[in-house]
Amino acid sequence: MTDASPQSEGDLAFFEDLQPPASDFRADVLAGLSRPQKALSPKYFYDKTGSEIFDRITQAPEYYVSRTEIALLDRIGPELRDLAGPAAVVLEPGAGSSVKIRKLIDALDRPAAFVGMDISGDHVKAACRDIASDHPDLLVGAVCHDFTQGIDLSALPLPDGRRVVFFPGSTIGNFELDGALALLQTLRGWLRDGDALLIGVDLRKDGATLEAAYDDAGRATADFNYNLLKRINVELDGTLDPSGFDYRAFWNPYRSRVEMYLQASRDMAFSVAGQDFMIRKDETIHTENSHKFTVDTFQDLARKAGLAPRTQWVSDGEPFSIHWLEVSGEA
Ligand code: TRP
Repeated sequence: MTDASPQSEGDLAFFEDLQPPASDFRADVLAGLSRPQKALSPKYFYDKTGSEIFDRITQAPEYYVSRTEIALLDRIGPELRDLAGPAAVVLEPGAGSSVKIRKLIDALDRPAAFVGMDISGDHVKAACRDIASDHPDLLVGAVCHDFTQGIDLSALPLPDGRRVVFFPGSTIGNFELDGALALLQTLRGWLRDGDALLIGVDLRKDGATLEAAYDDAGRATADFNYNLLKRINVELDGTLDPSGFDYRAFWNPYRSRVEMYLQASRDMAFSVAGQDFMIRKDETIHTENSHKFTVDTFQDLARKAGLAPRTQWVSDGEPFSIHWLEVSGEA
């Protein structure tokens, strides 16, 4: 349902609420905790508190990802302006905090519109309102949805003009490779001839740097994980004891990914939504992966999704890449 009333939505041109039903959260959590390797889907990290904690992660000194990508965006701004041309329509699935999108909007030549999309409706609404009030000439809309689910863009009141889908943060790396391919295909489906996907992809580097980035000394990443347990307790009537878990992050070079876990420090019985579970001392709940690519492994994946690499840039300092991909015509 699109609410286009300016009175109720501040400066937003529209707010489309496609919030996933709470039953999805319950079913996913129960299924994940019933597996031999217990697992929770990382998309549920991002409730309001989780999104705030994530902003803390991006400030952690060890977490090079955000500041490296921001510096790279600054460097390539003039090239992005040329590639996008005037009056672009910018869409950001998984819009988190607005630092990067602001860089992009400021780099572009009088962009026509910006649409932020996120699973956390409050977060995306607040971030998009701020952007709208700073950019009175920009049409700004917000969508609350799970971007792994399809969305019919024709239902949104978007102006014509070249679409630039912006997907920073190496979020693509948080999916298993088949899920990453499926997501690239979904985003490919949003593009027409001449449109582009501008995507940030973290690159392989030494294991110590990676493990520190995903287990910062200030414990922001650990808190992010504990928050998921707390969310289960509050929303699904759970009895998990966060203090009975240690947070762990490992670089797995064979699968080229950082793997994140909550590890039980003792045997614990708990229940979620009326269902009983047992976790043994040292047993883990797998909460997240962050895959690391090379420019070539990522571009091979993009090509499989029907996206043609046009330009890519690699950061100074810790290697991080940004890619400009266009519709290849085949898929
Ligand atoms: N896309 C980010 C990354 O993989 C997300 C992220 C950073 C993250 N730190 C995290 C997700 C910790 C879960 C837990 O770098």
